[in-house]
Amino acid sequence: MHLLVTGAAGFIGSHTVLELLNSGYTVLCIDNFANAISVTDEHGNAISLKRVAVITGKEVPFKNVDVCDEKALEKIFAENKFDGVIHLAALKAVGESVAKPLQYYSNNLVASLNLIQMCLKYNVKNFVFSSSATVYGPPSELPITEKSQTGQGITNPYGQTKYMMEQILIDVGKANPDWNVVLLRYFNPVGAHKSGLIGEDPKGVPNNLMPYVSQVAIGKLPVLTIYGDKFDTIDGTGVRDYIHVVDLAKGHVKAFDRIKVGKMKEKLKNTVGNVGTEIYNLGTGVGYSVRQMVDALKKVSGRDIPVKIGVPRPGDVASVYCDPSLAHEKLGWRAENGLEEMCADLWNWQTKNPQGFSA
Ligand code: WQD
Repeated sequence: MHLLVTGAAGFIGSHTVLELLNSGYTVLCIDNFANAISVTDEHGNAISLKRVAVITGKEVPFKNVDVCDEKALEKIFAENKFDGVIHLAALKAVGESVAKPLQYYSNNLVASLNLIQMCLKYNVKNFVFSSSATVYGPPSELPITEKSQTGQGITNPYGQTKYMMEQILIDVGKANPDWNVVLLRYFNPVGAHKSGLIGEDPKGVPNNLMPYVSQVAIGKLPVLTIYGDKFDTIDGTGVRDYIHVVDLAKGHVKAFDRIKVGKMKEKLKNTVGNVGTEIYNLGTGVGYSVRQMVDALKKVSGRDIPVKIGVPRPGDVASVYCDPSLAHEKLGWRAENGLEEMCADLWNWQTKNPQGFSA
């Protein structure tokens, strides 16, 4: 199958492209470098994807295209025969989305609507969407299943755009019964490819926990602020479901494998009763606290990681972790890497690329 991958040069994108190529898929990668974690070389090529080509020994066709640019996007569809799309491109900084809501609604929704329009026009009927555990809002139950309540209490525009896109894709799937739509709800991706050639390279000061902890360990940042230690959890710090980015990437391959073998023709009513659209949690089902994550990175790095206690972030909840059994049952997928591998591979990336891709 030949797939269009949007947001391909980013952290999730580059790892997903690698696993697709290793599984025999061919891809066309597009990215507009909005998240700027994917630095370019002197020819404007994404360094992350050039490294994917080195690791896989395969071609990684890339075009610097903004999914919001209808003309450029149409050209891509007119020049290629895609069997499907993996849509990862989105602005994704939770805090930034609160400060710049219009930029997030405009970019994340308009881009996605352009893409869906092009798929309809060019008969591309298989659509895998990068969604997020954020759509659950404060968990109504733990572990979170795909039937758990969504759309309530989402405290940021980023999460709202993911929820809205899910609703749009479910409705498009209903209106086009020959479409196959898969929504993948990511929990907390961490780690890096074992080669240490690709990994997470956040723009500026990291928003997410583990890139921040890793930069404290290597001495780029002085101290980790733990946002609250009075939560109702094992040690008072926030608990999340961290998943190795390679496991997450493999979940996308499994989603297309399921589409490819026509399994979705069963048109089974899925978890939320939407014919034609399938929804999966991609997590490990195991929650770890902030302190447990810090200790795990200390263990693999041998470095000290100074911490101080700060106030909880608005909207932060005590615990978030999922039940990933539906993805195992339907996709034949489950996370294979545990905490130690996540931290070892993160540290390997960090030490080999102290300045990320821009070294
Ligand atoms: C994890 C834990 C913090 C930073 C977010 C998005 C979600 C998804 C993953 C895109 C929490 C604590 C963090 C720090 C800390 N992204 N923490 N000090 O908030 O679970 O989810 O990223 O899809 O949509 O909401 O991840 O890494 O920000 O926080 O104590 O400097 O670490 O309080 O308990 P989160 P996170």
